[in-house]
Amino acid sequence: WRLVMLLAALTIILSGCGEEYLSTLLPAGEVGQDQFFLLILTTSIMVLVMAVVFTIYFIALAKFRRSKLGDNHIPKQVEGSHKLEFIWTAIPILLVIIMAVPTVYYTYKLGDVAAMEATDEEGNPENLVVNVTAKLYWWEFEYPEHGIVTSQELVVPTGEKVYFNLISSDVKHSFWIPAVGGKLDTNVENVNKFYLTFDKESKGLEDGVFYGKCAELCGPSHALMDFKVKSMNREDFDNWVAAMKETEGATADANSADAGEAAFANSCLACHAVSAVGTSGASAPNLATFGDRNRVAGFLEHDKQNTIDWIKDPQKYKPGNMMPAFDSLSDEDLDAIADYLLDLKVEE
Ligand code: CUA
Repeated sequence: WRLVMLLAALTIILSGCGEEYLSTLLPAGEVGQDQFFLLILTTSIMVLVMAVVFTIYFIALAKFRRSKLGDNHIPKQVEGSHKLEFIWTAIPILLVIIMAVPTVYYTYKLGDVAAMEATDEEGNPENLVVNVTAKLYWWEFEYPEHGIVTSQELVVPTGEKVYFNLISSDVKHSFWIPAVGGKLDTNVENVNKFYLTFDKESKGLEDGVFYGKCAELCGPSHALMDFKVKSMNREDFDNWVAAMKETEGATADANSADAGEAAFANSCLACHAVSAVGTSGASAPNLATFGDRNRVAGFLEHDKQNTIDWIKDPQKYKPGNMMPAFDSLSDEDLDAIADYLLDLKVEE
């Protein structure tokens, strides 16, 4: 019993019950609900099969055990039974069909992206399309209709089908938002497409906030390749798009009176954009919304010290990422750059 209790406790700990916003068991969208249904269906069938098999097993153990010492009597032997053979062939076939039909149905439903290309009379896309590019170890989200790009933060309207073009710029990654759906590989050579729908409510974090993860082993920092998802109603989403567009032309000036801006322009601007207007394909994450984020590098607590520590030695936190260490910067410069970054906001 002690062992059973220990195993049970371990299971609960390892299942990460504190991170409800990362749970497939609390689906927050149509696709997540479909996948949850499949999970429950297959698990129930498995439990049912195990219950029947173990019941028969233990009945056989008990009924045909040697009753007393010296009792060498052999029970009646049964050889060949068409009835039994038919039953134990038919039941598994039936169970496989029960699992296969909905699985195939939902798989094809998810792959139905014909509406991705649909346009209204004026030629505007009818549905939101997001181009996702996975990189070592961060995510870029491009909104081609709006001409804006974000990194590490996916913002979506609630209750609508959002269509995704998934691609990778280096190795194979996989796009997964546990509470909402996925996972689907991001490849270098070909584009994978599917759609997801997002509920407003999420369990655990603040409402409408989910987290996504990379679900394909891609290198030493695979487990740290997280991104944030914000689901908001249409009006808020449109306001967000407008605010993102206002960053057009934003850049850091090396001659600025703001020491942080000047230092950023000298050391960081070569790779990091601070305007959200653009297309995908940047070599480093866009920092236009850095001040709005709630994590540094996708997983560290969002504060000044972590920002400074990250700039000084990114490899310490996310081994194998593409950013070089900026440990040659003075403490004053690092301090000023962190202040500058934490001030880069598009939301109120
Ligand atoms: Cu990217 Cu794992």
